Amino acid sequence: MEIHLSPYIFLAFLLHLSTLCFVNAQVTDISTDKQALLALKARISHDPSNLLAGNWSRRASVCDWIGITCGVRHHRVTALNISYLNLTATLPPQLGNLSFLAILSIKNNSFYGSIPDELAHLRRLKYLQFSFNNFINLKIPSWFGSLTKLQHLGLNEVKFSGTIPQSLGNLSSLQQLFLDYNELSGSIPTSIFNISSLQILGLYQNQVSGSFPSIPFNMTSLIYIDFGDNGLSGGVSASFFDYLPNLERLFLDKNFLSSEIPSTLSTCEGLQYLFLDKNNFTGSIPKEIGNLTQLKMLGLGYNKLQGEIPYEIGNLRNLETLHLEFNSLVGPVPATVFNISTMKLLSVLDNELTGILPPTAELPNLEELYLGRNNFSGPFPGFITNASKLSIIEMGSNSFSGIIPSAIDMTECNISGNIPKEINNLNNLIDLQLEDNELTGSIPVTLGGLHKLQGLNLERNKLEGFIPSSLCQLNELVELQLGGNKIYGSLPACLGGCFGNFSIESFMGNLALCGSSRLYVPLCKTRTHGKSSSRKVMLFITLPLSITFTLVVFVLIFVLMKCRKKRTRPPTHVEMYPRHTWRRISYHELVRATNGFSENNLLGRGSYGSVFREDYMMGWSLQ
Ligand SMILES: *[C@@H]1O[C@H](CO)[C@@H](O)[C@H](O)[C@H]1NC(C)=O
Ligand SMILES: *[C@@H]1O[C@H](CO)[C@@H](O)[C@H](O)[C@H]1NC(C)=O
Ligand SMILES: *[C@@H]1O[C@H](CO)[C@@H](O)[C@H](O)[C@H]1NC(C)=O
Ligand SMILES: *[C@@H]1O[C@H](CO)[C@@H](O)[C@H](O)[C@H]1NC(C)=O
Ligand SMILES: *[C@@H]1O[C@H](CO)[C@@H](O)[C@H](O)[C@H]1NC(C)=O
Ligand SMILES: *[C@@H]1O[C@H](CO)[C@@H](O)[C@H](O)[C@H]1NC(C)=O
Ligand SMILES: *[C@@H]1O[C@H](CO)[C@@H](O)[C@H](O)[C@H]1NC(C)=O
Ligand SMILES: *[C@@H]1O[C@H](CO)[C@@H](O)[C@H](O)[C@H]1NC(C)=O
Ligand SMILES: *[C@@H]1O[C@H](CO)[C@@H](O)[C@H](O)[C@H]1NC(C)=O
Ligand SMILES: *[C@@H]1O[C@H](CO)[C@@H](O)[C@H](O)[C@H]1NC(C)=O
Ligand SMILES: *[C@@H]1O[C@H](CO)[C@@H](O)[C@H](O)[C@H]1NC(C)=O
Ligand SMILES: *[C@@H]1O[C@H](CO)[C@@H](O)[C@H](O)[C@H]1NC(C)=O
Repeated sequence: MEIHLSPYIFLAFLLHLSTLCFVNAQVTDISTDKQALLALKARISHDPSNLLAGNWSRRASVCDWIGITCGVRHHRVTALNISYLNLTATLPPQLGNLSFLAILSIKNNSFYGSIPDELAHLRRLKYLQFSFNNFINLKIPSWFGSLTKLQHLGLNEVKFSGTIPQSLGNLSSLQQLFLDYNELSGSIPTSIFNISSLQILGLYQNQVSGSFPSIPFNMTSLIYIDFGDNGLSGGVSASFFDYLPNLERLFLDKNFLSSEIPSTLSTCEGLQYLFLDKNNFTGSIPKEIGNLTQLKMLGLGYNKLQGEIPYEIGNLRNLETLHLEFNSLVGPVPATVFNISTMKLLSVLDNELTGILPPTAELPNLEELYLGRNNFSGPFPGFITNASKLSIIEMGSNSFSGIIPSAIDMTECNISGNIPKEINNLNNLIDLQLEDNELTGSIPVTLGGLHKLQGLNLERNKLEGFIPSSLCQLNELVELQLGGNKIYGSLPACLGGCFGNFSIESFMGNLALCGSSRLYVPLCKTRTHGKSSSRKVMLFITLPLSITFTLVVFVLIFVLMKCRKKRTRPPTHVEMYPRHTWRRISYHELVRATNGFSENNLLGRGSYGSVFREDYMMGWSLQ
């Protein structure tokens, strides 16, 4: 029996097909996309560049609008990228109708209000970038977990609060998850550690608490974890590192972690950046850290680490910054550390380190050296004068003895004491802090050649002799501390000029000084270069007299200066501005002023680390 297709049935079938198409068209037409985008445009209350107002015109094709990309084949909107336009706006629910959308980026605007649930319909989304907006107090919608094609989720500084939903663990294609600079709390959902495709996990500066997941996880793709500045506590288990074979960057700084540092971290052989600063890590530094030969930055400062610095740290031949400050480390710094030629910043401030520093070293790139508040002894390390990139030397409160070496070849100085700028080995020095040591000899004339010097602190040493007039060449100097030495004789003639900004306290506690009458110091009676013993005797007789006299005069000056300041002079530009600059640059000052570092202090992770973190965060985009 033959089956005849009745023409009516056939017609009905066609009709049915076309209605299907029609219905479909209603939902997925390009005009739907246009309606959705016009709805978005209507939500923009402020558009400073006025870019969209004209460009997103009803007459033009959506696909020609700025920030819009359409699919070549189906002619539907696939990308909406209106980043960096400083728009103030809210998100309309109609955006959920952009059913072909793969890229949605509204980064760096001022979007606020709620995130419509309709966006959950955007099943094709691979890239969702909301970073740097103003969704104040909003929670991360749990339906984000249903956008299962997502590879990139950027939610940096959108001011979200609440907890991180478990459902994000469903994003099985996710490669990059940025949640930095929000107010997220609660614990880190363990489900996130099930995303084996994850490469980057950023959670810097939130209030996430609890401890690390102890469940086994397998994250072979993960290269970057930033849990810095949260409320994490407890320990880091030895097994934590077993599952992260490709980890390159690990930030756990500024938490409340209190375990020992697991030696198993050496299994992460590719680690380049390791920051464990500002926790309560105890025990000693595991010597296995020396196996992490790719390390560029190592931060272990502000913990409770004890014991000696392992010799193996010298194996880290790529290290650029080493932070060990504010611990209780004892013993010497291994000599090999001073031969890491890549080193830019070395800080062991405030430990209990001892020993003599090596006379020679290989530190051609060293810019900042912090050895202060330990008990190093022996001569001023000679290698320092060869480290020509040094800008900060902080060696205060140790037991360094001997003389301060001349940083330049004296034979190059001409008779008048003018020092040619270009030959000074420490040409870049901005800050030299040597207070509270046992340095002897006189203040080197050559210091006057360090023409960028802003801070010079030689307080409370055993320095003798005169203040070299070459210091008058230091035009940038804003902090000068020479008190508590045995300096005597004349203040440089220029004192009233170039040193005019320093209070007399800078020189107090020395034996006797004379100089310009403008500064109310007694005039110097003799040429100060005399050597005869009778003059020395004279000096010792007149000394007590001078001291009394000077003290009286100092008090007078003080009172006078105070009155003068109050009455006439507003603070001059010269006085205020450089000091401000100075304070900004000095790590040492910052440490002192803030008792450790306060929040948002870039220098907190070394002048390199933080900048790096920002760059790294901003630099990631769709692959
Ligand atoms: C909108 O801007 C794009 C890119 O600048 C341009 O190609 C297009 O012609 C503009 N459309 C209108 C309607 O101004
Ligand atoms: C979005 O646009 C910005 C600025 O034009 C650009 O830097 C960024 O790479 C774009 N993002 C994507 C995912 O295309
Ligand atoms: C957005 O604002 C920043 C800072 O105010 C400005 O530098 C930038 O040029 C602005 N961008 C646009 C597209 O107006
Ligand atoms: C688009 O979205 C809105 C709000 O979510 C909805 O009311 C509308 O029916 C959707 N469809 C079209 C074709 O606009
Ligand atoms: C993006 O926003 C952040 C935070 O507001 C800001 O620091 C950054 O400079 C902005 N970037 C651009 C290119 O506007
Ligand atoms: C997504 O995650 C939640 C919570 O983890 C779970 O209950 C749900 O079944 C998951 N959904 C899918 C589609 O996997
Ligand atoms: C992680 O994945 C495993 C297996 O795929 C599953 O058994 C486990 O429940 C998941 N854990 C979480 C916390 O989602
Ligand atoms: C981890 O995952 C990789 C590939 O995804 C697999 O080869 C490896 O065996 C897994 N390791 C463990 C311990 O499950
Ligand atoms: C370290 O522990 C002490 C108490 O032993 C506590 O007061 C302090 O807040 C802790 N600091 C950090 C960063 O965990
Ligand atoms: C790691 O370091 C230890 C001790 O320094 C050493 O014995 C071991 O061979 C190293 N392991 C690797 C894989 O290099
Ligand atoms: C460090 O380098 C200097 C000069 O290259 C060399 O004399 C010294 O032996 C080295 N020290 C160590 C501990 O390797
Ligand atoms: C520092 O070392 C010197 C000698 O090296 C010693 O005399 C002094 O007692 C030590 N000071 C402290 C505080 O340990």
